[in-house]
Amino acid sequence: NIFYDDDADISLVKGKTILFIGYGNQGRAQALNFRDTLKYAKTDATILIANLKDSYAARAHEDGFEVTQDWAKATALADVIFLLIPDQVQPKLFNSKIGPSMKPGATVVVASGYNVFYKLLDVPKGANVVMAAPRMIGTSVRSRFVSNAGYPCFVSVEQDATGNAHELALAISRGIGATKAGAIESSAREETLIDLFAEQALWPTVINAFTEAYKLLRANGCSDEALVHELYYSMEPAEIFEKCAEDGFVKQLVYHSKVSQFGQLNGALSLDGSEFVSRFQKVLKHQIIEGEFMRNFSKMEKAGTLDKELESLFERAGKTELALGEKLVFERLGHSYGAA
Ligand code: NAI
Repeated sequence: NIFYDDDADISLVKGKTILFIGYGNQGRAQALNFRDTLKYAKTDATILIANLKDSYAARAHEDGFEVTQDWAKATALADVIFLLIPDQVQPKLFNSKIGPSMKPGATVVVASGYNVFYKLLDVPKGANVVMAAPRMIGTSVRSRFVSNAGYPCFVSVEQDATGNAHELALAISRGIGATKAGAIESSAREETLIDLFAEQALWPTVINAFTEAYKLLRANGCSDEALVHELYYSMEPAEIFEKCAEDGFVKQLVYHSKVSQFGQLNGALSLDGSEFVSRFQKVLKHQIIEGEFMRNFSKMEKAGTLDKELESLFERAGKTELALGEKLVFERLGHSYGAA
């Protein structure tokens, strides 16, 4: 099922207090969208931001929002609570300050299924839990709202205490601009499975394939310049993915030469695949469904070793031929290397 603006009754939040916990990537975009939706729909509601005293809080203040550091007091006032801080820090804050202060019948909104699927949040029985999970980074959640294009979003009801959580979920989704392009009915389980599978099975395979292809072609005399340009710097792969979204994953192949079409289709269809399928199955069952990844990740978060572990992974990945080669090429091209 896909829900659009017309399926959502924004008047359900009339006179309510909407609390955004966190004003980062998603928090800022969603709060700004919500405020604009209320304005366009001539619906009054109060928007509050609860945030640590940091640069995000300063930004919220600059954007004209009322910002508080008193989580418990803000929560006690709220009818709708958007939980928009990083997934790994949500359980600690929620279970100590938010859950115990919620008023009966209030609704918690998560933007990712992770903490709900793994039951890491102690949500009071009398509360609703809904998911509105944009399939988009925060800056695009905002820019696509402003340009009236909308963005895809998964929506679900995870706990219905008031009997109208579905209607509320749609009103909330409309508030953040998620029903403009169609909010897709989903679940915390589905969102978690797809998201973690893409991150832990699909993209690692792609990263590994690119890294190995780079090494092999380089060993056969191909230059760093040619490889970096061919593999991604030209933006051709990004454009191919755009065509996949426009015309279809397979049908976009008509834009490629016959040599390329034959090579790609024949190559893909004759791949055995059993090697990565058995790895995919293991990741899905053991790491994701049985929760091994979550347990290890929570352990690192609790021990305070996550950033150090990540740093060491970046260091190792930075030593591959692909990473070393691209650094050289970027420098020769006068292109700054790295996002920060
Ligand atoms: P973020 O990393 O941008 O969050 C920053 C915010 O969290 C700031 O307001 C900061 O003050 C607050 N914060 C950080 N550590 C904190 C702590 N220990 N205690 C209290 N507040 C703390 O988060 P982001 O990326 O917006 O993610 C929020 C939710 O949205 C997550 O559930 C994530 O999975 C989901 N999501 C994120 C997407 C993205 O593009 N980044 C896309 C779709 C969903």
